Amino acid sequence: MSGSKEEPRRVSGDWREFFWNARTHELLGRTATSWGLVLLFYLVFYLFLAGMFAFTMYIMLLTLDDYKPTWQDRLLTPGMMIRPKGDQLEIRYSVSDTESWEDFVQNLNTFLSCKKLLRPSAYWENFQPLNADCPPDQYFIQEDSGEVRNNPKRSCQFNRTMLGDCSGLEDRFYGYSKGQPCILIKLNRVIGMLPGKDGQSPYVSCGAKNEDSEKIGPLAYFPDNGTFNLMYYPYYGKKAQVNYTQPLVAVKFLNASLNTDINVECKVVSNTLQAGSERDRFAGRVSFKLRINNQ
Ligand SMILES: *[C@@H]1O[C@H](CO)[C@@H](O)[C@H](O)[C@H]1NC(C)=O
Ligand SMILES: *[C@@H]1O[C@H](CO)[C@@H](O)[C@H](O)[C@H]1NC(C)=O
Ligand SMILES: *[C@@H]1O[C@H](CO)[C@@H](O)[C@H](O)[C@H]1NC(C)=O
Ligand SMILES: *[C@@H]1O[C@H](CO)[C@@H](O)[C@H](O)[C@H]1NC(C)=O
Repeated sequence: MSGSKEEPRRVSGDWREFFWNARTHELLGRTATSWGLVLLFYLVFYLFLAGMFAFTMYIMLLTLDDYKPTWQDRLLTPGMMIRPKGDQLEIRYSVSDTESWEDFVQNLNTFLSCKKLLRPSAYWENFQPLNADCPPDQYFIQEDSGEVRNNPKRSCQFNRTMLGDCSGLEDRFYGYSKGQPCILIKLNRVIGMLPGKDGQSPYVSCGAKNEDSEKIGPLAYFPDNGTFNLMYYPYYGKKAQVNYTQPLVAVKFLNASLNTDINVECKVVSNTLQAGSERDRFAGRVSFKLRINNQ
């Protein structure tokens, strides 16, 4: 009985002694010298780790090149994106309801003329004459010769007029007001990519998924044949090719069925790029939903 009262006090007494043992001058069971050695060990250890890290980083940075990526995924087919782009890849509007398509038109205007507020986009007409008038259907190669950089590199003209009926210059509503909407397609930039051989430019081909094929109607492509001309490649990167104007392909739906959802898929056809594989279903293709209502 009395033992059970004794126990807790002894335990707490042991603990206190372990924390600070006045007899041996040990703190938590170690003497000051012992603690000093432990701290010294960790100090040296962490300094060593930090040094390792800094050294590795330094070596890495030495091998980096400002102008091109040192590490690039071996990808090869870039993704595609459409404009106008909302929260979802969906173009849904009513022809008679101006407000329902205003945003799409505004989105295209912004994309083609001013990127950020008051900052002109690359497609702005006045920029293009400064770019090179390149010979079409061949690569515009501007390699560095050894250590001598050939920078800045020139870029080829992509005139807005090349988007024809989808340029927004003649029809400033891009066909939306007539139930013949345009969408713009771009292929993501990949430095050094060569998207075609034998003078064959890659081109965009759009179609409807399975059961919607009756509804999509005829399409018109701009520039002709929906090509991303070879002259816009290879891309050398933002820093080397400051005024690069990414080529676009416009697709106009000339007579799509009204009041029904149409699942559209566009893909790039090229004799060097693989179509989307199992591993990356978004490579070289983009899908979106189109619905044009008439009331
Ligand atoms: C890029 O465009 C600017 C004008 O915006 C021009 O002054 C400059 O010379 C151009 N650079 C190249 C390499 O074409
Ligand atoms: C782009 O337009 C300019 C005139 O604005 C013209 O001189 C040039 O040839 C055009 N370039 C292409 C590639 O069509
Ligand atoms: C478009 O394709 C047709 C047939 O494949 C070809 O004859 C024509 O030259 C092409 N047009 C352009 C601008 O590449
Ligand atoms: C548009 O498609 C409808 C069927 O969906 C067809 O009846 C009509 O003739 C087509 N119009 C034109 C101009 O091709």
